[in-house]
Amino acid sequence: MSDTSCETLDLKRPSPAADARRPAPPAAVVPPEVPAYMHEVYDWAYVNPAWVRWLDHNIVVKTLLFGNDRRLMRRYLERLRPGMRVWQVAHVYGDLVRLAAQRVGPDGAFDLTDITPIQIAHGKRKIGALPWTRVIRQDAGIHRGDASKPYDLVCSFFLLHEVPDDWKRRIVDNMLEQVPASGEAIFVDYHAPARWQPVRYILKWVNRLLEPFAEALWEHEIAHFASRADEFEWHKETIFGGVYQIVRARRRQP
Ligand SMILES: C[S@@+](CC[C@H](N)C(=O)[O-])C[C@H]1O[C@@H](n2cnc3c(N)ncnc32)[C@H](O)[C@@H]1O
Repeated sequence: MSDTSCETLDLKRPSPAADARRPAPPAAVVPPEVPAYMHEVYDWAYVNPAWVRWLDHNIVVKTLLFGNDRRLMRRYLERLRPGMRVWQVAHVYGDLVRLAAQRVGPDGAFDLTDITPIQIAHGKRKIGALPWTRVIRQDAGIHRGDASKPYDLVCSFFLLHEVPDDWKRRIVDNMLEQVPASGEAIFVDYHAPARWQPVRYILKWVNRLLEPFAEALWEHEIAHFASRADEFEWHKETIFGGVYQIVRARRRQP
């Protein structure tokens, strides 16, 4: 089954030449159900096309991240080198996926997964014409890359705070499982803000209203969601008074 077989949306088609150079789609990708939490909590943000059209802009990301968007994106982008094989586990509004795919370049491979058809359409519009990319509708807790050509880097950019804790565990485990000895996983997400940080109290209120799964990341390290955390070395940086964390995990060398 093709990686875009579930699409019924009007997508900008890449040229046949670009298609010919594109890596083969993963075998037997079964389009996932859109999970209940997406409908129950995030329908307006990521599922309903009318809203999504308005939200997919850099200014939205900048506002949501209190102006820290470029700083956070840089932490991810600066880990990318031309020729790397990269998996970004979910689409992000604005230009991040395009910048990441361009940084990897034609000698590398860039796989973007997402679980909703509309986000896949937006991802395709942004990077679908680049032959070294694949935009795949799949759950980040299930996706499998090509075992013979493992990823150098896998990235979750603000996905974990949006999923229930059992999904956090599946996604973290699946990401780590696909990190080879020389590779790295990077998680950019929310964290427990310092008590002096005024944004802490704004986010408390936002979380009550809109983000029921976010505060698990205030209470637990990301390593807490990994069933084999001991096999990895974890490096954590926090910024903006602890509001955000950038966590990198590499396999411990024997
Ligand atoms: C990366 S997170 C939030 C990022 C950020 N707020 C932004 O500006 O887009 C949002 C994305 O995660 C996707 N998503 C949610 N659950 C997922 C899952 N289990 N697997 C893959 N993608 C998922 C949603 O469809 C959405 O496109």
